[in-house]
Amino acid sequence: MKGLGVAIIGSGSAVPTQILTNQDLSRLVETSDEWIESRTGMKKRHLSTGESLSQLAARAAIEALTMASLVPMEIDLLVLATSTPDDLFGSACQVQQLIGATRAVAFDLTAACSGFVFALVTVSQFIRQGVYKNVLVIGADVLSRWVDWGDRTTCVLFADGAGAVVCQASSTEDRLLGFEMCSDGSQNGSLNLAYQGISKNLLDNLTVTTGTYQTISMKGKEVYRFAIEKVPEVIEKALYRANLNTADIDWLILHQANQRIIDAIAERLEIPREKVISNIAKYGNTSAASIPLALDEAVRQGKISPRDTIAVSGFGAGLTWGAAIFQWF
Ligand code: ACO
Repeated sequence: MKGLGVAIIGSGSAVPTQILTNQDLSRLVETSDEWIESRTGMKKRHLSTGESLSQLAARAAIEALTMASLVPMEIDLLVLATSTPDDLFGSACQVQQLIGATRAVAFDLTAACSGFVFALVTVSQFIRQGVYKNVLVIGADVLSRWVDWGDRTTCVLFADGAGAVVCQASSTEDRLLGFEMCSDGSQNGSLNLAYQGISKNLLDNLTVTTGTYQTISMKGKEVYRFAIEKVPEVIEKALYRANLNTADIDWLILHQANQRIIDAIAERLEIPREKVISNIAKYGNTSAASIPLALDEAVRQGKISPRDTIAVSGFGAGLTWGAAIFQWF
């Protein structure tokens, strides 16, 4: 079974029903619709009110399976990219149970807003080696759990959602044309959701540290500069590996962090506006969910056609960033 290719054969997405508009935010913190829209492109976002991360992810997964004409029992591997699991030990197994993918091995992968791209690349290695045939890749986050709702510099940005794709082994062609992934821990302080513990004495000379995670902390300008510099580079490297250039891209789908970041990157790559997919106005920054959410919406709107070449790029905490070039099925 060696030497197989990867085909992406279905997509799905899910968002909570509750909506928070820019006007709503202006009642929470000192901000305005005009400030948020002009600086970020966001108009509204969806926030979970009780639906768990696993439930959101399961809804997206079921949609992707339906599009792929597969049943859950046919899934061999399920990878959940998330930074906001219901359970710190991982939520992929809960998703596996919810959808009834009882044959699948399931695990979480954490790479913040790059999570979906990193997960897609990871599962592709298993597929190419002939280890697993049908694979679910889910990007899901409920960032609203970890936002400081009194901090106007972050609370206007983040939101909740899930997106999924089904990847399948193909003996005839490989639709994952190229990829590149990068990390830089020296810039970890630019964006994090850090654990903070307090020392607790258990016995003489024996202490542990107990506590919890804090809220999201971000140096917005640093992240902005990092994204604009590194994302065009990583897309160009992935294109080089695919033996393609920017003119071959039919659709550019970037992590939906900020419309100004999306525009600046497209401009640097000289990719025209009509080839850039963005739904940030409706969903805000949904972290690992944002790329599959935008992909699924564009597929269901009929924008993306069979064999279109799509460049996706995620970037965010870690810092991490990566790109993948693939053809739609
Ligand atoms: N409403 C009104 N004013 C605000 C708000 C707000 N919501 N937030 C900040 N301001 C104020 C600031 O206090 C500042 O005021 P001052 O000049 O009096 O000090 C002023 O607006 C300008 O603030 P800046 O931070 O300089 O605003 P900037 O134009 O850089 O935009 C933003 C901020 C939108 C956060 C931008 O820097 C950005 O998008 N950065 C990248 C963020 C990003 O991509 N993050 C996610 C990565 S994904 C992940 O891994 C989770």
